[in-house]
Amino acid sequence: MASDWRDKKLYPLLGILLLSIFLYFNLGSNPITFPILWQSHMGFVSANSTHFIIVNPRAPLENQSTFYINGWNSYWLMQESVWAGPSRSRVSKMLKKGAEMGLTVCRTWAFNDGVGPNALQISPGVFNERVFRGLDYVIVEARKRGIRLILSLVNNLSNFGGKAQYVRWAQEAGHNVSSSTDSFFSHPMIKDYYKAYVKAILSRKNSLSGVKYADEPAIFAWELMNEPRCSSSSSAPILQAWLNEMAAFVKSLDQKHLVTVGLEGFYGLNTTKGLEVNPGEWAASLGSDFIQNSAIENIDFASIHAYPDSWLLNFTFCMI
Ligand SMILES: *[C@@H]1O[C@H](CO)[C@@H](O)[C@H](O)[C@H]1NC(C)=O
Ligand SMILES: *[C@@H]1O[C@H](CO)[C@@H](O)[C@H](O)[C@H]1NC(C)=O
Ligand SMILES: *[C@@H]1O[C@H](CO)[C@@H](O)[C@H](O)[C@H]1NC(C)=O
Ligand SMILES: *[C@@H]1O[C@H](CO)[C@@H](O)[C@H](O)[C@H]1NC(C)=O
Ligand SMILES: *[C@@H]1O[C@H](CO)[C@@H](O)[C@H](O)[C@H]1NC(C)=O
Ligand SMILES: *[C@@H]1O[C@H](CO)[C@@H](O)[C@H](O)[C@H]1NC(C)=O
Repeated sequence: MASDWRDKKLYPLLGILLLSIFLYFNLGSNPITFPILWQSHMGFVSANSTHFIIVNPRAPLENQSTFYINGWNSYWLMQESVWAGPSRSRVSKMLKKGAEMGLTVCRTWAFNDGVGPNALQISPGVFNERVFRGLDYVIVEARKRGIRLILSLVNNLSNFGGKAQYVRWAQEAGHNVSSSTDSFFSHPMIKDYYKAYVKAILSRKNSLSGVKYADEPAIFAWELMNEPRCSSSSSAPILQAWLNEMAAFVKSLDQKHLVTVGLEGFYGLNTTKGLEVNPGEWAASLGSDFIQNSAIENIDFASIHAYPDSWLLNFTFCMI
């Protein structure tokens, strides 16, 4: 067989073929990525009253195992995964380290809107495929380490685009949108942009594993927004309505995953008790309310963000 090859001068041809493949993967527009042929089994997480459980469809209800969260936040995983190389290795190292420490859930950005380098959504409904592959990589790496991800879908702040970018897009498209970023929560066009975004994410088929995001057990939950605030006058009902609508929208596309809001955790003006534990009077008038916002039917669990070092300005920490 080998001599046949030599006789037919096929070796140089084979060489050229291998070289072309090598050049294609290294110099082409895609970093080297090979499809994953096998992934470890992982169950979906669900909520039962005050517990998280790992769903095992074959076991009776009382045998579902309780799932405990030790988690952390690394917002930067997607952006560091866009290019193959050292930054991508940083992502795998982070997830590996987390798993070794016994951590089970990581919260990270599934958004980057606008004109920045490595933006995922470059205009409404238009995506940079290379960045999407970065997110694909994050999800595959998380699953490999047994880590589940909380994926946040948009920012309140203007870092990575956020609601301000959505408002600009609507204005640039000629819609009559007030430049208050609170119109993010009420303008029908902007709500449609957000829904189209959510739909694109949930129906994304991972380029590495072939698994649709909506079917991916390594996703712990969808987070509607990072730290939503809607602070123009009497806007609490607007935020509440937006959360209601968007949580229901996510659930209409995906019943397998948990949904959460992404609140900071302040009590609003409608909460008569508990206001004194807000970090300041300002916190009640941001349009959010931890109780009301979390009580929405399609919201499966609540979370808060604690910033004790900026809230407790006059508090002396005792170092012993
Ligand atoms: C359910 O749990 C009980 C007690 O731990 C065990 O004996 C039983 O085999 C389990 N059943 C299934 C189907 O896993
Ligand atoms: C939820 O928890 C209750 C009480 O522990 C238990 O009886 C029930 O079977 C659980 N349901 C599911 C779906 O795990
Ligand atoms: C949310 O956005 C508003 C502007 O719309 C901004 O004033 C506020 O500081 C942002 N939230 C946080 C947590 O900074
Ligand atoms: C834009 O909207 C504002 C507030 O809703 C309204 O007062 C104004 O007339 C609108 N402008 C146009 C050109 O439709
Ligand atoms: C308070 O709750 C009532 C009844 O649910 C609602 O109509 C009102 O808009 C709420 N106000 C605020 C500031 O959340
Ligand atoms: C901190 O203490 C200073 C001086 O006692 C006071 O003026 C200020 O209002 C306090 N700030 C807060 C956030 O409690």
